Amino acid sequence: MTVNAFFSNGRASALIAIVLTGLFLAASPATQAETTQKTYASFNAAATKLLGRMTLDEKVGQMCQPDQSALKDPADIEKYFLGSLLSGGGSGPKNKADYNLKGWTDMVDGYQRHALKTRLGIPLIYGVDAVHGHNNIPGAVVFPHNIGLGCSGNAMLVEKIEQITAEEVRATGINWVFGPCVAVPRDVRWGRTYEGYSENPDLVKVLGAAAVRGFQGSHLADPHSVVACAKHYLGDGGTAYGSAKGTDNRKLDQGDTRCDEATLRSIHLPGYIAALESGVGTIMPSYSSWNGQKCSGQKHLLTEVLKQELGFDGFLISDYNAIDGIEGSNNDYKKSVELAINAGMDMVMLTDKYALFCKDLKELVGEGKVSMARVDDAATRILRVKLAMGLLDENRSPLADRSLQKTFGSAAHRAVARQAVRESLVLLKNEKRTLPLAKTAQRIHVAGAGADDLGMQCGGWTIDWQGSMGNHIPGGTSILTAIKNTASARTEVTYSNDGQGAEGADVGVVVIGEKPYAEFFGDSADLVLAKENFATLTNMKKTGIPLVVVLLTGRPVILGDIPAQSDALLAAWLPGSEGQGVADLLFGDFKPTGKLSHSWPRSISQLPLNAGDKNYDPLFPLGYGLSY
Ligand code: BGC
Repeated sequence: MTVNAFFSNGRASALIAIVLTGLFLAASPATQAETTQKTYASFNAAATKLLGRMTLDEKVGQMCQPDQSALKDPADIEKYFLGSLLSGGGSGPKNKADYNLKGWTDMVDGYQRHALKTRLGIPLIYGVDAVHGHNNIPGAVVFPHNIGLGCSGNAMLVEKIEQITAEEVRATGINWVFGPCVAVPRDVRWGRTYEGYSENPDLVKVLGAAAVRGFQGSHLADPHSVVACAKHYLGDGGTAYGSAKGTDNRKLDQGDTRCDEATLRSIHLPGYIAALESGVGTIMPSYSSWNGQKCSGQKHLLTEVLKQELGFDGFLISDYNAIDGIEGSNNDYKKSVELAINAGMDMVMLTDKYALFCKDLKELVGEGKVSMARVDDAATRILRVKLAMGLLDENRSPLADRSLQKTFGSAAHRAVARQAVRESLVLLKNEKRTLPLAKTAQRIHVAGAGADDLGMQCGGWTIDWQGSMGNHIPGGTSILTAIKNTASARTEVTYSNDGQGAEGADVGVVVIGEKPYAEFFGDSADLVLAKENFATLTNMKKTGIPLVVVLLTGRPVILGDIPAQSDALLAAWLPGSEGQGVADLLFGDFKPTGKLSHSWPRSISQLPLNAGDKNYDPLFPLGYGLSY
């Protein structure tokens, strides 16, 4: 059953909320996840036994996660008994020529071999941001970003997507993903809006749970499964505009969420509760603060709420260098380590400070500032997850199963992504029956920077951290190519980036939107598209032909006169590598079913804008979406 069938097109937001809540109880999982929080606890005896053989250096090493790109020497894995490594955004093989499936797999296996050489041979748990497919690796299928999946409302589909992602990740020897992002973005000026599913906590809950089931499979020890990581705990999507500190573009990212605990819990916690119930193995505390104090140092949130009250038995991984400068540390790193570990952080993600981290933590134990019991608890939690994954099983190799590479980026995987694209599109306007397009048109003129640009179509977190413009995503189909594939052989499809030369065409398709960005680089003060988008639209409009505008954006943007200039308007979000899904809908092979997972503002002054607000008056309400 899909959630979207239950969205309402009406403006009664309260009704939407009630209907959504009712539906989520009915959404049934495709896989019966056998991994629960009890699974981790069941490995307690085995973990404690192993822990009994470990030195303090070995325990502390388990708690340390450097970015592989910052390792001074791969042998440091042995020297510091590192328990984990990560590839942050775009952190892959150093040599450009190796930045491919084989190169990535060789790199990860190489590190794993170092871990196997340590005294106890405890394998690495290796993390990556596979946030819309295994998006760092050329040739992987790139799925729509979560905002689009939120509009699909299809939990079964989300589960399938993450199953595929897990398989592609495992094909490279990686066994842990930093997803799903169960943020509830409440102000769409936030540059991470697209990483979350919706402004609606109930929708986040049902899709976040589905994603965990997809990643972790029916069983964490399944060789096709990866450990999931719900992030960023807690309230990352609720930061106040202007509360973010930074010399850059930051307005909201890593800022401060200012509300009482009841509000924090009701909006931002449900996604974590659902992830916990689905057996999530790891959770990432947020860079952001709650009422002026960084979440990474809040014992109440990390230990009292998550571990004690909610029974989380996996482990906490800090965000990238997020413990640095915690309140009370006076920017002294050792003090930050003390505060974060005592708050309940179990593993610390960092760049090149691993030697310092290990030294500081050992000293803190010696000085009695961090108890041995806390270190034992953290290491036990990490070992339990590794045991549940089967990583410590002597009969299994932690190296990549390269037979999985046969289906990496396969047609079958792409077919699921194409379905996801179709289901994520939201039709905002359709006058004079402009859509669906006639396959027999004599000429269709396609225009706009996004029409033939896979980089723009995929957005941030694609090959690189920030993503980039250009057609460097092998195996993908641009919207222009998809239109050519779908129109009849007699139809001439012409293209110009700026919209020149459209005169005389039967119809125009203008693909405009935001350039790729990630995290704080994407925070925006005005949410207005760059000038060239409007110039293209004006050039097309001058010709007098009917216009379909396709928006490639990570969030609802301020549209200005775009709706007035267009006959049909389609929000495509950041659909990923399978542009064919857009053409499927444009030509009517499938009908639009997507419904807005965010309220669409009329003007910037309305923000933050969310269903249920007093005087709620959006341009398009939460749950809005037309069909043919
Ligand atoms: C982001 C996380 C991500 C981590 C590792 C951070 O900058 O906030 O979402 O998982 O980097 O790449």
